[in-house]
Amino acid sequence: MTTTACESNSIYPVRWQDNKVWLIDQTRLPMEYGEVEITSSEAMARAIETMIVRGAPAIGVAAAYGMVLGAQEITTDQKEEFLADLTRIADRLAQTRPTAVNLFWAIERMLKVARESGPEVAVITKNLLETAQNIQKEDVETCRAIGHHGLLALPEQPEKLTILTHCNTGSLATAGYGTALGVIRSAWTAGRLIQVYADETRPRLQGAKLTAWECLREGIPVTVITDSMAAHCMQQKLIDAVIVGADRIAANGDTANKIGTYSLAVLAKAHHLPFYVAAPLSTVDFSLKDGTGIPIEQRDRAEIYQVGTTTLCPRDVNFYNPAFDVTPAALITAIITEKGAVTPAELIFLQDS
Ligand code: MRU
Repeated sequence: MTTTACESNSIYPVRWQDNKVWLIDQTRLPMEYGEVEITSSEAMARAIETMIVRGAPAIGVAAAYGMVLGAQEITTDQKEEFLADLTRIADRLAQTRPTAVNLFWAIERMLKVARESGPEVAVITKNLLETAQNIQKEDVETCRAIGHHGLLALPEQPEKLTILTHCNTGSLATAGYGTALGVIRSAWTAGRLIQVYADETRPRLQGAKLTAWECLREGIPVTVITDSMAAHCMQQKLIDAVIVGADRIAANGDTANKIGTYSLAVLAKAHHLPFYVAAPLSTVDFSLKDGTGIPIEQRDRAEIYQVGTTTLCPRDVNFYNPAFDVTPAALITAIITEKGAVTPAELIFLQDS
């Protein structure tokens, strides 16, 4: 794995160049902006596990390119053997993170292309690369459509809004533009936004580190608060709406997103504020009837007791570190997708649309 400094002004968390992948190293932002060179499917799996690349749609794009790298590693020219090896690579990539369904969605789409391509391995590999590139391109278009529909879904009053968001849902978490942050970006461009409040998002601090960094780059006014300040800010009438992203949405609209999202939804309800989820339809798992079936990733205890090299508390106590929680559909005002904003109960009508 090699790291280089990024020079381009645009944010591409995943980039294919010279038959390899370049990932912006999100573990080093905002202190350092650099790319990591990924040359094998195993290196891609480790990059997803260690959160060099993170955010549901970005993980899907990264896994798709991981499959392309894997295809390049396979030496046989027999389709059946190729498919068996590719399936093993897919299984390894699928083991990296359990909650974001975009990972499994992208891997399944890649496997289907491989199965349905003709007998020549060189053609299958070419089709896999094209598919990964399409997944990436479509995600940017999808995010722009989410931004457009989100702008229409925002409350009409007040005319200029202050929006609270959680975790990071911008260009870094997608192929570009962003989901919840895409809506915020649209609102800013349309002159409907005063500022964003970004929850710091313990324990990995995606809000403080990544959302704040992206907003600064875009010139969007941003105020970082600790997660425990959200209730106070709402009580002080500093917030007009809450918008978050999603890692997996069940058919009834129950939504898994970064830990702390559920608390925000409860708080929004208590303060009569609209609570929106912005996500592509690839984040909806229509096979799950509700959120009880969503697997919740448990991460390392060190994420809680340590920040960087600084130890925050005694290590010899028990730690519980679920990376996501599930917000019940009843607390969600609307789910904003590329096909429009719908109530959770209407989500089912977007299946196969
Ligand atoms: O653990 P992470 O950083 O991958 O979690 C990311 C989130 O929870 C995001 O809110 C979600 O993936 C939406 S990304 C557009």
